[in-house]
Amino acid sequence: MSKKSNNLRSSRWFDKQDLPGFVHRSTLTPTGLHRRDFDGKPVIGLLSTWSDINPCNLNLRALAEEARQGVTAAGGMAFELPAMSISENLIKPTSFLFRNLLAMEAEEMIRAYPLDGVILLGGCDKTIPGLLMGAVSAGVPLIVLTSGPSIPKDTPSGVQGTGTTVWKFVDSLRSGKLDEEDFKRFEDEIMTTPGHCSEMGTASSVAAVCEALGIAELGSTMIPAPDGRRSQAARNAGRRIVEIASAGTLTPRAILDSRAFDNAITLLCALGGSTNVIVHLLALARRLGISLPLERFDNIARRVPLITNVQPSGEHLTSRLYAAGGIPAVLYQIRDYLNLDTMTISGKTLGESLSPPAAIDNDVIKPLSQPVKQGPSLIVLKGSLAPAGAVLKTSAADGALFRHRGPAHVFEDVQTMADTIDDPSLGITADTVLILRGVGPVGAMMPEWGMLPIPGYLMKQGIKDMLRISDARMSGTAYGTAILHAAPEAAVGGPLALVKTGDIIALDVENRRLDLLVDEAELDRRRRQWQAPGKLISRGYRKLYQDHVQQAHLGCDFDFLAGGEESTLPDGLFDGWVGGW
Ligand code: FES
Repeated sequence: MSKKSNNLRSSRWFDKQDLPGFVHRSTLTPTGLHRRDFDGKPVIGLLSTWSDINPCNLNLRALAEEARQGVTAAGGMAFELPAMSISENLIKPTSFLFRNLLAMEAEEMIRAYPLDGVILLGGCDKTIPGLLMGAVSAGVPLIVLTSGPSIPKDTPSGVQGTGTTVWKFVDSLRSGKLDEEDFKRFEDEIMTTPGHCSEMGTASSVAAVCEALGIAELGSTMIPAPDGRRSQAARNAGRRIVEIASAGTLTPRAILDSRAFDNAITLLCALGGSTNVIVHLLALARRLGISLPLERFDNIARRVPLITNVQPSGEHLTSRLYAAGGIPAVLYQIRDYLNLDTMTISGKTLGESLSPPAAIDNDVIKPLSQPVKQGPSLIVLKGSLAPAGAVLKTSAADGALFRHRGPAHVFEDVQTMADTIDDPSLGITADTVLILRGVGPVGAMMPEWGMLPIPGYLMKQGIKDMLRISDARMSGTAYGTAILHAAPEAAVGGPLALVKTGDIIALDVENRRLDLLVDEAELDRRRRQWQAPGKLISRGYRKLYQDHVQQAHLGCDFDFLAGGEESTLPDGLFDGWVGGW
């Protein structure tokens, strides 16, 4: 469907019969294009985080080729633009540091090139959030195309995913139930296909909420990575982005309004999805200038039941969820909680796009009246220990600790914690509240260290959960009563910085309270004595991060990137200039 249109952004590069037009067209001759090909075709960017150092994204190059075929068939032209690949398990010090860098790269790349629309190809945890944050700021029409979950391994002891199963194996090893040989065999078998983690971890949760937001094709995100139907989804995305770019009306801002965000949160709650999605949605909303207070997550979670029986909140993996109808089946089940009149990339509303599934596997997608677990799947806590908020994934935690008072044991850094946690002389008991601080966005770029380990000697006694608090994040595949994202963080003087080992901490989930039971005069004295940690980073991107990252309840984006209309150069300012000549 080739369509002449003077409204296309790319026409500023290619339509003019002048020196810049000549340069722009002739520059692309080595790709096989001829000047007659520039006849008003929409130009589509395939922004891909493919890299062979990132197996979660290993199929993205093939998917980009499929998407290119869809673009060409629909009368557009596609160019693949490699973007920073963030491999969750390999990149140091933490993948989260690079989400904002990828977002900046994506935004500037889209703005700088003659693109009328983009397909965002990502998979591993931070890739889609980074691409998406950048793309909404650039403002061109977009479609999200994810790599899809990896294929889990079928074993005599059950189906093994790549995330939650690992944590359980580690726990079994520490409690003496597994030996080193079992663990080595597990290492050889655990990750054998391309694709992202196969639980409802961060990657799956981010992908899923893109369907609820209306920016990924309904039903596309849970298709396993090696499944041919993912190639079909890629071709569909290619065809559809040409139509959207040609029409020019379905911009990100036309789709992503506050009701779409409510839909995303509603789905997240029904899935028992990752707490990392909270941070990403907060950042995305702020980029769009949409008011999304942290409390909104709690308000929605109070009424939406957890109905998806997938790890870590349930039993199965995303392969079973896909077989049970995938995200559209979950959305259909929770339709009464959704804003059905929100727009999607299909050009139809969410309500028009949903239809009754042929059959629902009630073991995987539960009826509303029989949820996987009673109560909200996540909560937002406030109190003297986290005045700006903290989050707890209640669906993956032990309800026995939801009303708890216990003495704090404070770890100042993760290495000390790792070196000493198993030392019985620390006096840690099952009632102790384990605290790790200084690991928030400013302090340590907010790594996934929030699932603090339980001392091995307690695990051997059968203790499976303890109350843990940090200003860090937690892997979406992890579990436990881990209170995360405490804000303000310790490194900027938040109350977490004032806790001493032995202080009593009180958690009251029902009343959403997290308090440090130390009298105000004593806290004042500690506050006056507190000294901010010295800033160790003096240059480069990490300094920019340290100086400008916002707190967790604001999404940890940079302060200078949030809100307002997308900034762009005035039309025509550089159109007559040929860079490099
Ligand atoms: Fe890439 Fe889990 S390690 S999605």
